[in-house]
Amino acid sequence: MLKPADVAHLMGGRKVARIVYQPEEIRARVGELGREIGEAYPVSSGQLLVLGLLKGSFVFLGDLVREIPRPLQVDFLVASSYGAGTTSSGDVRLVYDPETRLEGKHIVLVEDIVDTGNTVRRLMGLLRERHPASLAVCALLDKAEMHAPMPEVRFIGFRAPPAFLVGYGLDHAEDFRHLPFIADLM
Ligand code: IMP
Ligand code: MG
Repeated sequence: MLKPADVAHLMGGRKVARIVYQPEEIRARVGELGREIGEAYPVSSGQLLVLGLLKGSFVFLGDLVREIPRPLQVDFLVASSYGAGTTSSGDVRLVYDPETRLEGKHIVLVEDIVDTGNTVRRLMGLLRERHPASLAVCALLDKAEMHAPMPEVRFIGFRAPPAFLVGYGLDHAEDFRHLPFIADLM
């Protein structure tokens, strides 16, 4: 079990209030999610494309796809993000569009965290226009009390507390993405 004092050398002077998810908990849950996704999309159902939303999903996606026991393809989307702030602006733009064909494939959009849900809602709208066979979201973290129920978020790692979290891909002003745990900053 890592404690805040154990990780001070990773933090550039910022203090960790609490380690919310330990590396082992994340690993175990990501393994379960991979198996859930494998069961939801049997090979006979068709092609599976795992679409990672950059940059926040890069660590999660790398671990997740190695736990999905079936053939699949990987591509990425880049949407405009928060910048240096910690609240959602509601404005979502596609900066990089996947080159992979989406038509007729089962698409799992991988997000680091769903907060207000604006990002996911906007991206689902854009992706539906490409006529995938199906479209679902897999979010490592879901701040469920921040948004109305979202059935499109079909795979959820953890129900996150309403704090600002960093690590395992999640950043604060581009810092802390490399942390192998998820923490609440002081
Ligand atoms: P939404 O559009 O409000 O759902 O915000 C989703 C996006 O905001 C995510 O892709 C994250 O990049 C970012 N975000 C939301 N909450 C947090 C957080 O607690 N830590 C880091 N990034 C966050
Ligand atoms: Mg972000």
